[in-house]
Amino acid sequence: MYASLKSIGSYVPEKIMTNKDFEKIVDTSDEWIEQRTGIKERRIATADQATSDLGAKAAEKAIQRAGINKDEIDLVICATLSPDHLCMPSTACLISDKVGIRNCMAFDVAAACSGFVYMLSIAKAFIESGAKKNILLVGAEKISSLVDYTDRGTCILFGDGAGAAIIGVTEDKNEAIIDIHASADGKYSDLLITPGCGSKYPCRADNVDDKLQYIKMAGNEVFKVAVRTLTKDVVDILKTNGITSDDIDLFVPHQANLRIIEAVRNKLNFPKEKTVFTVGKYGNTSAASIPMAINDAYEAGRLKKGDLMLLDTFGGGFTWASGLVRFGGD
Ligand code: ACO
Repeated sequence: MYASLKSIGSYVPEKIMTNKDFEKIVDTSDEWIEQRTGIKERRIATADQATSDLGAKAAEKAIQRAGINKDEIDLVICATLSPDHLCMPSTACLISDKVGIRNCMAFDVAAACSGFVYMLSIAKAFIESGAKKNILLVGAEKISSLVDYTDRGTCILFGDGAGAAIIGVTEDKNEAIIDIHASADGKYSDLLITPGCGSKYPCRADNVDDKLQYIKMAGNEVFKVAVRTLTKDVVDILKTNGITSDDIDLFVPHQANLRIIEAVRNKLNFPKEKTVFTVGKYGNTSAASIPMAINDAYEAGRLKKGDLMLLDTFGGGFTWASGLVRFGGD
């Protein structure tokens, strides 16, 4: 028995925020943002849309494309750094309710931008052990709720959105999730952090006045570690599995910054036409970034059953993960 990525879906809010819109609120320019990040625009959720609303819409699509009934789903996992509620209930519980999935385990994963690939690793283990048969994975983010719109170093980077997948069972290795490498190193935790509204700096007026509830990032230092780690991780997973870059049909990197993607792609000699780029239109959507990018390729007709995808991601923690995944959907 192997685990297989049977379907993919995504959802983005309608509202588009362009680089020009940022020129009106912080000291920046369309040119600076595009040259340094590759981002042209990003989606922003409405005030009454929470992360679970975005996630539920992506989940509905993935379930429908998998051709299964909701009551066949036996595990729901959501990866997010912008949960509806800080502690409880989990966003996975809320998505289950909104989609109409009852009586199965539901929990969240906190691994920042690496969340979706972390979930693939968990789902693979559950399927291969025989414990579960149809797992709904949702990467969903309303990062606009965590962004300080006076900090030009971070606010221009992020967007809202959601991606979802159904992981099911297959006996065919040509439709299987081949391998996932996932890791972390907490010594870098201060470089990318939302310090406030947890147990260390509770949601008190003084901490909120100090803006501790917002994302803080040492962008340049994160950039260097990200390029180094993402490249090494890809080299390792290819080598371990005796696979070369020529065998890869689609390279799906985390969509944080075009310069990071290009640095990794050039070091590994991946052709542009085999790489997925969505950062220009969605910005960094953290845990939603990889499934949204897979969905983009799927809807563009670039992904067919059996195609081998290489996933590569990096985020706060630091966390990082890569995956060799054959597409098992129709
Ligand atoms: N507009 C204009 N100028 C700016 C802006 C802006 N929006 N932001 C920063 N600057 C300025 C800085 O103040 C600095 O000015 P100074 O030289 O006068 O001090 C100058 O531009 C250079 O700043 P750097 O931070 O060195 O710029 P850099 O080229 O590194 O680009 C960026 C910044 C885009 C944030 C980049 O470092 C980056 O993408 N980092 C990695 C992000 C990432 O991958 N995060 C991981 C995943 S996210 C997650 O897990 C949630």
